[in-house]
Amino acid sequence: MAIKKKISLLGGTGDLGTGLASRLLNSGYEVIIGSRTLEKAKQSEQTLGSNAEGMLNKDAASHGEIVILTVPFAHQRNIVEECKLELSGKLFIDTTVPLMPPKVATVQLPEAGSAAQISQNILGDEVRVVSAFQNISAELLQGNHKIDCDVLVCGNKKESREEVIDLINSIGMKGWHAGMLANSAAVEAMTSVLISINKHHSISHSGIKVTGLKD
Ligand SMILES: NC(=O)c1ccc[n+]([C@@H]2O[C@H](COP(=O)([O-])OP(=O)(O)OC[C@H]3O[C@@H](n4cnc5c(N)ncnc54)[C@H](OP(=O)(O)O)[C@@H]3O)[C@@H](O)[C@H]2O)c1
Repeated sequence: MAIKKKISLLGGTGDLGTGLASRLLNSGYEVIIGSRTLEKAKQSEQTLGSNAEGMLNKDAASHGEIVILTVPFAHQRNIVEECKLELSGKLFIDTTVPLMPPKVATVQLPEAGSAAQISQNILGDEVRVVSAFQNISAELLQGNHKIDCDVLVCGNKKESREEVIDLINSIGMKGWHAGMLANSAAVEAMTSVLISINKHHSISHSGIKVTGLKD
């Protein structure tokens, strides 16, 4: 069996980070939970159990082979800038949706085009930025049940997207090549569309499903 990579989650103490961490742990990955405080990181370590380790965000960025960012858009820039040095040479998965409360059901993309593009602009070409998971509700990740919605994966290098798709497939979801990082704008915007659908049709977690597959 191939040895699974060590995955760090920056801001991994939150809703999405905890959900992803538990799915990753269930699939045999070693997971590092990053936080602004060691105390909070260690609390998550206790809750998640063996194979989880809590660290400060910078240390988590340094120790993870793949690093996933799970902080709200308002804090994305600060964390990415703070961990820039530690992220050099790594695969960086950005889950950020540029939601600007209170109008979270309205698409409000940043000037750079997308949240993922902000990360790429800060980190430069030495970091392989791939975006994913923006359309998956954190609540859906709780538990071990099958998740019946797809994950669109954007990034400028096909091999990097492939690596993220393999990771997504290995934790029980279906990942798709969704093109260059510029396309992340559409995926991030889709989250507000899904929030609108949830609201108007009283659905808890609407999601994306790719159709038209060959039999
Ligand atoms: N929740 C979802 O269903 C969902 C789905 C798809 C995508 N996303 C995206 O995933 C990201 C995380 O969402 P979430 O709902 O998990 O967020 P969250 O629970 O509100 O926050 C995640 C973590 O961010 C850290 N944080 C809070 N304030 C911060 C600050 N001022 N500076 C640095 N870090 C700070 C906190 O970690 P510490 O206090 O431990 O440092 C917190 O646990 C967002 O960008 C969101 O758009 C979320």
